[in-house]
Amino acid sequence: KLRKQMVAGNWKMNGSVELVNQIANAISAVELDKVDVVVFPPYPLLNNALQNELVVGAQSVSEHEAGAYTGEIDAQLLAELGCKYTLVGHSERRSIYGESDEVVASKFQRAQCQGLIPVLCVGESEQEREQNLTESVVSRQIDAVINKLGVVSLVKSVIAYEPVWAIGTGKTATPEQAQQVHKFIRDKIASLDDAVSQSLILLYGGSVNEKNSELLFAQPDIDGGLVGGASLNPDSFVNICKSAQ
Ligand code: G3H
Repeated sequence: KLRKQMVAGNWKMNGSVELVNQIANAISAVELDKVDVVVFPPYPLLNNALQNELVVGAQSVSEHEAGAYTGEIDAQLLAELGCKYTLVGHSERRSIYGESDEVVASKFQRAQCQGLIPVLCVGESEQEREQNLTESVVSRQIDAVINKLGVVSLVKSVIAYEPVWAIGTGKTATPEQAQQVHKFIRDKIASLDDAVSQSLILLYGGSVNEKNSELLFAQPDIDGGLVGGASLNPDSFVNICKSAQ
């Protein structure tokens, strides 16, 4: 494949100090020159993960600079700790915490300003898919960033396509369904800047497991996965990472 593959584990509000140790041990079996492996544990575990020499990202980040924002986390602090990535606009942040496309674009900007690589999560709900709105929803979510920051801002970013109906449901998009949307995203960006599009890492997320990952990752426009539930099991996660090599 042209692009180096990436597998990211989003722990959501799960995990423990012990799980950090288990994952760090298990990952030593993965050939890291062939695949970038990143974990997104809850904030209090970031330092443990860093001390275990994992490549680490935060699950969200504030759109603001440091100040009076109780409960929020500043990108500058994450960067200072040694985090390399942050998720922005995960569907749970959008649907449960009401993050709009504009807020997500501001988070993306703040993350990049501090040298973090934002992983922009996009994807349609089941109802939107049934109404044939997949492409317009994904377009709108990506355009919020492009209109604010320009297409070149995507150079130091990752996009994760996660159909909401496939998240945590055990209902994975078929490799063909996922490839179709990934290709749509890549073509859309290519129409603005071909070089940016060709180098952009596009992850698939939504019930990825060790049984379905190989076929998903074999698709030409899928460059790896953003894994939720299965990233909490060290053996499964390692097998998923190996299937991306
Ligand atoms: O960020 C990860 C996604 O929300 C996928 O979660 O693998 O548990 O479906 P899942």
